[in-house]
Amino acid sequence: MAKNSSSSSKASGASKAVAQPGANNSAKKDLREFEEELAKREIALIEREIKSLRLQEELERLRPLSGLYRVVKSMATERKMDALLETITRETQSMLKCDRCSVFVLDADRSELWTQVAQGLIGTRTIRIPLSGTAIVSHCARSGKIINIPDAYKDERFDPDVDKKTGYRTQSVLCVPMRNRDGMVIGVFQVLNKLTGPFTSEDEDWLEALTTVASGLIEQAQAYAEIERFVDKTLEVLAQTIDKRDPLTAGHSVRVTNYSLLMGGSLKVVQEDLDVLRYSAMMHDYGKIGVPEAILWKNGRLTPEEYATVQKHASITFDLLNNLPFTKRLAAVPFVASCHHEKLDGTGYYRNLKGEQIPFLSRIIAVADVFDALTSVRHYRNRMPIEKVTEILDSGRDNHFDSACVDAFYNLPAEQVLRVMESEREQTTSEDVSVLKAVKWKRMVELVSGATPKRGEEDFKNVFDRMYNFGLPENYKPLD
Ligand SMILES: [Fe+2]
Repeated sequence: MAKNSSSSSKASGASKAVAQPGANNSAKKDLREFEEELAKREIALIEREIKSLRLQEELERLRPLSGLYRVVKSMATERKMDALLETITRETQSMLKCDRCSVFVLDADRSELWTQVAQGLIGTRTIRIPLSGTAIVSHCARSGKIINIPDAYKDERFDPDVDKKTGYRTQSVLCVPMRNRDGMVIGVFQVLNKLTGPFTSEDEDWLEALTTVASGLIEQAQAYAEIERFVDKTLEVLAQTIDKRDPLTAGHSVRVTNYSLLMGGSLKVVQEDLDVLRYSAMMHDYGKIGVPEAILWKNGRLTPEEYATVQKHASITFDLLNNLPFTKRLAAVPFVASCHHEKLDGTGYYRNLKGEQIPFLSRIIAVADVFDALTSVRHYRNRMPIEKVTEILDSGRDNHFDSACVDAFYNLPAEQVLRVMESEREQTTSEDVSVLKAVKWKRMVELVSGATPKRGEEDFKNVFDRMYNFGLPENYKPLD
């Protein structure tokens, strides 16, 4: 209010200027000051606006740098190729303001370039292109030079057939070769359709910088995958040395691993833990190497002493695995593997752990292990009828097994369970289990046990029976 009255007094002062010269001068002074103040504020406002515009420009200029930063940061978190390629393509797209980005990796053995993330191609995750082909990425990989095409349809190196196949309209193309530390081309970065016109030489510089970082990461991911394959195969071979001692237990470790991974997947176990689960399941019975064959292969019931000797395999598994230099990520493997005979109520072996003391991953393996033992043909008995197997799993709920793990198993698609079950059998059936894709294992068992089939389920029991009992002798009597 005070301000209003002062400004209105200034205005009235100006209108009375002719009548009062003294007042006139002071009013003029007031007006000048007022105008000066106004001009100052206006200038400040304009300056602020310019500053904000500059800041925005600066930010825009630095945008690629932040993309580069994000990719570099992912180095610390992404060791796996798939995730790494996804991060790189996503960041490149936003960095260069383009519609698509693909990283083509050179498969030197097959003379092909493959890409895993070609965004927008629904259903196609991996595309393979011959290195000797006419595609622009092939040109780029062969020449080792940057290719920047402002208008694809006016360039003879562009093959419009690719667009015809994918329904995409290519406009601008920028390809930059990826090189390893020795300068050899190991792949190509391709970005398509810049949103604001053709790719500039500045874009080339940014993409080249990104490519330099990315190629190091990709090389690292490839080396990591190689090491992982090596560790995987080595552990599998070690596990097989146990399975192979007795041809009738052949494949037990691999099947237990596959059942465990299926369950782990449906229980939403995180990737790092799935790796621990895989190696632990693979090696769970490794300690059997320390159990005499005369006991392992004995026909008929074991004496209490012999049973105690068999039980030792769990602690031997721990001792042997504990000598392996597992990385920090896999440090839990010896413990998880050696807990597969623990029971929730504490009556298992060999540490007599109870409930939560037993690692969750070991509880998964426990279900997979018992299921496989009962559904495998062993030297001392045939496959157990599936109803009986289910009875055993159910009666073990909350005393032997974690109910959540039993449920996870029951909810697996019957097709997946049967594929694992039959994977190592010498005589494989010609039965097509893909019809059992939509039925859960639990329902499958109900149908086998005599439940009335609903529409579409009529043949499921026959398919199952033919497969489960395939190759059994005529006079076969299931033993329990
Ligand atoms: Fe075992």
